[in-house]
Amino acid sequence: MLKHLLQISDLKRTEIESLILLAESLQLNPPEMNEDRKALVGLLFYENSTRTRLSFELAAHISGIKTVNLDINTSSVKKDESISDTIQTLGAMGIQSFVIRHPESYMLEKLVSTLGEQFHFINAGDGQHAHPTQALLDMLTIHQYKKNFAQLRVGILGDSLHSRVAKSDIVALQLLGCRDIRLIGPKEWLLSITDSSMASVKTYQDIKALEGLDVIITLRVQKERIGDFSDNTDNMNSLNHYTQQYQLTTERLKYAQSDAIVMHPGPINRGVEIASEVADGSQAVILKQVSNGILMRTAIFESLNLS
Ligand code: CP
Repeated sequence: MLKHLLQISDLKRTEIESLILLAESLQLNPPEMNEDRKALVGLLFYENSTRTRLSFELAAHISGIKTVNLDINTSSVKKDESISDTIQTLGAMGIQSFVIRHPESYMLEKLVSTLGEQFHFINAGDGQHAHPTQALLDMLTIHQYKKNFAQLRVGILGDSLHSRVAKSDIVALQLLGCRDIRLIGPKEWLLSITDSSMASVKTYQDIKALEGLDVIITLRVQKERIGDFSDNTDNMNSLNHYTQQYQLTTERLKYAQSDAIVMHPGPINRGVEIASEVADGSQAVILKQVSNGILMRTAIFESLNLS
């Protein structure tokens, strides 16, 4: 049983498959509410969140785990308390497990190296590095609609360079046997594929690479990680170019299979990376991903041996 969940590559294929099966079974048979359960989980979100934070809270409620949600903006973090001191302070109050979102990549690895014996850590998104629980709920969603990962053609459309979701999805898709993963987007926002462990991944600057896809994962343009978007900057030009050339519109969606599903981790920027009629259309499973977030995070709480 895992003590921490930092990134998808910490998991074996069979563990991902077990989490998917458990999440699916929880839909039919939620766990018995255990009032005696002692686990307390601290939610520390150093970056904004709606879906991840609330679904962890709801998942904890389903699992009979109590949560303490530290409001970073009104906490002593604003008096320069370090994250490690904050964790040890909450530890002294009896909290042994933490769900953490942080703007710095690999922050969770750092915490595990110093405090990992004492505490459990779950990564709720660290910088541009990883968002493993999002990838797991994405795999659950794909499994519900498409079944056989080995046969799937999956496109990841947009700003894969700055996206922790894209990076975690790629690792999860490969582990589950997917052999055709296409990163599609402008050169400056495409993740470069230098690693031989990414053998199933190819990059494309032509939107026609949507041709024949079964799954399209649309990404938000990560403005907060790209930099200044005030008028007349190169970034603003890049954004306008992106919207014109790569926004997922009804016309462009026709390149994909007629039964392709359209995913997006959220929050969506309507009219930027995705047209409203696609986001609200019959092929979109974006809100299903949100609901699946509760199931998958409940499965994660049930699978970790939290104290
Ligand atoms: N997908 C995702 O991480 O959404 P939030 O930022 O709302 O948690």
